[in-house]
Amino acid sequence: ILSFRVDSVLNLMTINEKIGQLVQYSGGWDATGPSSSENHQYKLSKLKKGEVGSMLNVTSVAAIRETQQIVMENSRLKIPLIFAYDVIHGYKTIFPIPLGESASWDLEIIQKSASIAAKESAASGLQWTFAPMLDVSRDARWGRIMEGAGEDPYLTSKIGVARIKGFQGGNLNDKFTVAACAKHFAGYGFGEAGRDYNTVNIGDYELHNTVLPPFKAAAKSGVATFMNAFNDVDGIPATGHRELQHDILKGKWNWDGFIVSDWGSIGEMIAHGFAEDKKQAAEIAMNSGSDMDMESYAYEGHLAELLTENKITESQLNDAVKRILKLKFELGLFDDPYKYCDETRERENVYTKEHLKIARDVARKSIVLLKNENKTLPLSKSIEKIAVIGPLGDDKDVPLGNWRGKGVYNSAVSLLEGIKNKVDKNVQVSFAKGIELMSETVEPGKNQFLYPIKFNTKDKTAITEAVELAKKSDVVLLSVGENAYQTGEGRSQVNIGFAGLQNELIDAVTKANENVVVVLMNGRPMDLSEINKKVSTILECWHLGSQAGNAISDVIFGDYNPSGKLPVSFPYDVGQEPLYYNQKNTGRPYSMDHVTFSSYRDAPKEALFPFGFGLSYTNFKYSDLKLSRSEISKDGSLIAKIRVTNTGDKVGEEVVQLYIRDLVGSLVRPIRELKGFEKIKLKPQESRTVSFEITPETLQFYTQNKKWEVEPGTFQIWIGGDSKASTTAKFSVQ
Ligand code: IFM
Repeated sequence: ILSFRVDSVLNLMTINEKIGQLVQYSGGWDATGPSSSENHQYKLSKLKKGEVGSMLNVTSVAAIRETQQIVMENSRLKIPLIFAYDVIHGYKTIFPIPLGESASWDLEIIQKSASIAAKESAASGLQWTFAPMLDVSRDARWGRIMEGAGEDPYLTSKIGVARIKGFQGGNLNDKFTVAACAKHFAGYGFGEAGRDYNTVNIGDYELHNTVLPPFKAAAKSGVATFMNAFNDVDGIPATGHRELQHDILKGKWNWDGFIVSDWGSIGEMIAHGFAEDKKQAAEIAMNSGSDMDMESYAYEGHLAELLTENKITESQLNDAVKRILKLKFELGLFDDPYKYCDETRERENVYTKEHLKIARDVARKSIVLLKNENKTLPLSKSIEKIAVIGPLGDDKDVPLGNWRGKGVYNSAVSLLEGIKNKVDKNVQVSFAKGIELMSETVEPGKNQFLYPIKFNTKDKTAITEAVELAKKSDVVLLSVGENAYQTGEGRSQVNIGFAGLQNELIDAVTKANENVVVVLMNGRPMDLSEINKKVSTILECWHLGSQAGNAISDVIFGDYNPSGKLPVSFPYDVGQEPLYYNQKNTGRPYSMDHVTFSSYRDAPKEALFPFGFGLSYTNFKYSDLKLSRSEISKDGSLIAKIRVTNTGDKVGEEVVQLYIRDLVGSLVRPIRELKGFEKIKLKPQESRTVSFEITPETLQFYTQNKKWEVEPGTFQIWIGGDSKASTTAKFSVQ
């Protein structure tokens, strides 16, 4: 019935109307790219003619209804627009940045947070989010590392699918769900030297084994749309990459959604030096399978001409249009173009108490306890004098992070507020900023997303006051890290340490008081080497969203036992980047008393805090690893079981992780690869046996035959609480 309905509309359409469906404009009034009023007038005229398929960055029920009305009241065929927005980690109720949320390794809660983001955006008139970002990212310099699930393809796949399920809810016709978008297809996370939009030079095997699996999982899970990418992959811009889009995604994977270009990425093929002009760019993009043109004006300007010149075919055009119409039907827009436009629903479903409660829960589950050497944490609620020190300590905006949707400026619960909300009345909670992180803020009215940050590197005067406070306090909560806009699009950095005067502050405060808890707020893995030498306690709190301060307090005072695990390696030094646990062994992995092996002379080659790592207020012991079989056939499977015991005195959650290595392959295989995990909760002294099924799917990889296959040979597994797990066993595949 669906394809009949789609065809029935298609058959009525002129060529210009068809091309129009492939055009996406930005409202331009509130986000990624400002537009002149002339441009605005032009867009209005195209909307009236029914020559626009979708709008992005038009938000609120009122604005969306008004824009939809332009099409409904003026165009010939009245094909409804689909409205999109970057709802990345919440719409108005802001959840932790995706990298932070991924540290929860809690698929249920991740799905829940996406479903709330969907509910709030759909109630506000939207039908489509440009999320989740599925780019495996291994370079802390890359600003957009904050937007993904870290360095591992397996974890990224699981989290990506959870987010898609949360956004789409299994039924796009439900008016509390939105269509998701798997982005950026493909390779965007591998930009050379961590520089945004940079060239990507990875081999075909790396592409298939590391970059593509999360996208394949997304396609399989029924994600409605894909977005291509700004980067080139080995010389071919992703937007004009026929093999990726046409052959693999729409061909081999048989995926029936549509691909939207990234902002202006069709036109950017000219700057890449891959197309001579917009006409050629349009031709290449269309022939590569890129369906919708976001703000390049290439399709609307040139597809008609390309058709008459037989450089593209009408059946290609029809295919793209059908994919877009199909989604519009699935969303119910043809039945009611104003289905998502209801002010009462908008008022009742956005930024509710219930959503904030869940945001707090997600946030506390995302916190990672990196160090607690002196068991300083959890703090007693009746400790007498607490000092909150640092530029981020009372900040109500930084915790919202970048890509914060409609999150309201300064609306987060600050650390200081969170602490005050929690402690007994007689506890003295004092605050000293110590330094301003930035020398100036972006002028009100300007979109912070677009402008560079200027750090304060001069004014140290308030450090003395912070030191005085530190001296007379029982404990210092030192809140340092990164500004909300230090990560995100266009925010690559060559330094991943503490910007501005933070190092001076850290130095002074740690000399003044031995009892310092570092409360980090950041969007990327940072270089923590120096601070790690100075303090005994470090809490990784990312940019945790609307309820940040309350969530951090829950952990600091032990109302929630931290359970987060790093989704990405934290280096000793930026010079190690890109850094990831699932690296290859090299031919010279060993350490000897001379220099000719694969290492650095001035730093370890491994992470300071490894992938999968995170402490709890209790301890877990792993024992009795058993395999159901020691030998299987290529299509066989086995069960690995392990006993996990909570040996401490507090209830705690542990992420039990399974790693595998294929010892000899037709290609060099990583030294370990995550292949399973389960988050469990144990009471003190309680034990549980956790089982993992190891199947051909677990063992296969994209081999030298250019096929996904299991190769015979010996495999080693490890199960434990991080990627350094030592409990191990072997089996063989015949
Ligand atoms: O969705 C984003 C994309 O991730 C980066 N460029 C702009 C798009 C739309 O805002």
